[in-house]
Amino acid sequence: MYQYSVLFVCLGNICRSPTAEGVFQHKVNEAGLGDVVKVDSAGTSAFHVGESPDERSVQEAKKAGYHLSYIRSRKAEAKDFVDFDLVVAMDLENYHNLSLLKTNGYENKLKLFIRDFAPELGIEEVPDPYYGGAKGFTDVLNMIEVASDNLVEFVKKELNKT
Ligand code: 4NP
Repeated sequence: MYQYSVLFVCLGNICRSPTAEGVFQHKVNEAGLGDVVKVDSAGTSAFHVGESPDERSVQEAKKAGYHLSYIRSRKAEAKDFVDFDLVVAMDLENYHNLSLLKTNGYENKLKLFIRDFAPELGIEEVPDPYYGGAKGFTDVLNMIEVASDNLVEFVKKELNKT
């Protein structure tokens, strides 16, 4: 039975949020919390619903030992704020769209991944790599690894509160 749940959200749910799902899931498993913490991802758009992650994200993750190919894109919905403990946006545009999607009372669940969990990186957002080159995908993976490590520590503390 899951005791905590995290949903990662970007625009297409094929690059950034599936990378975050796969990396964070891996770190949750390593921490021995795979049966306790539920991890998922979604997009604020329906552009790629039903599709596998972008092959560039899959390959970048694979080089570092993370698996993403089981993930299928879905659209975020208002109900996600009921179902998940944290809804973690990759950038400010998606954070804003999620703030409009949610009903009142769920403000505390909405987070901005880098600003809220890896402020040491000195940036706020995971930039959209979709229309850029290979370096964008490498940068995205690196910042997601740092923020995921910190988020695992945050979740451990939350679990100890219950
Ligand atoms: P993601 O990247 O939001 O990280 O999954 C994108 C994927 C697709 C598009 C934009 C960003 N698109 O415009 O189709």
